[in-house]
Amino acid sequence: MITSKEIESIFAVQLGKIKDDELRSQVVKIWVAGCERGGWDSIDELKKIPFTLLTDTKGVSFIEHTIAVTEGALALAQAQIEAYKKMPYRFDLDRLAAGGLLHDVGKLMEIERDGKGGYHKSHSGKCARHPISGALLAAESGADEELLNTIICHAKEGDGRPQVPETVLIHQADFATFDPLVMLSKGLLIE
Ligand SMILES: [Fe+2]
Repeated sequence: MITSKEIESIFAVQLGKIKDDELRSQVVKIWVAGCERGGWDSIDELKKIPFTLLTDTKGVSFIEHTIAVTEGALALAQAQIEAYKKMPYRFDLDRLAAGGLLHDVGKLMEIERDGKGGYHKSHSGKCARHPISGALLAAESGADEELLNTIICHAKEGDGRPQVPETVLIHQADFATFDPLVMLSKGLLIE
């Protein structure tokens, strides 16, 4: 079983950016629940999960992706906070860090080992994509509706839908890590 302490250690820096103690433990609790539900028993296994099944990830892991998206979204908020004389809207940085860490938590249920050394979409993943399964899991742990919006609407499910400002940044940070890999695999990334 993957423990709270292990989750706290892999995401130590990003969890440290969540000021609210209750929200920080909620994020850890949701991750532990996701690992259990997805059948991931050890931190070594967890670290090997690829970040997506949709393109060649070139070795980028799900954990690395989660960290990059969380840090990227926080940096996008910081850039606006520092550059604008007056912010036209408000970023909740606690929600942004929590949403970054949780946006893909449903992949713990969506992805499974294929028994041949690789990974494929699980039965659960066929029934519900990770934004939906992740939000259901987070809701079970008492996540509020705005935090759920960051999970539900971070991918195509959010296209054209109302979003909290944190969702907008998580979406952009997410695709900033996804698009170059897709372009690389299609020969469209100029190097
Ligand atoms: Fe993602």
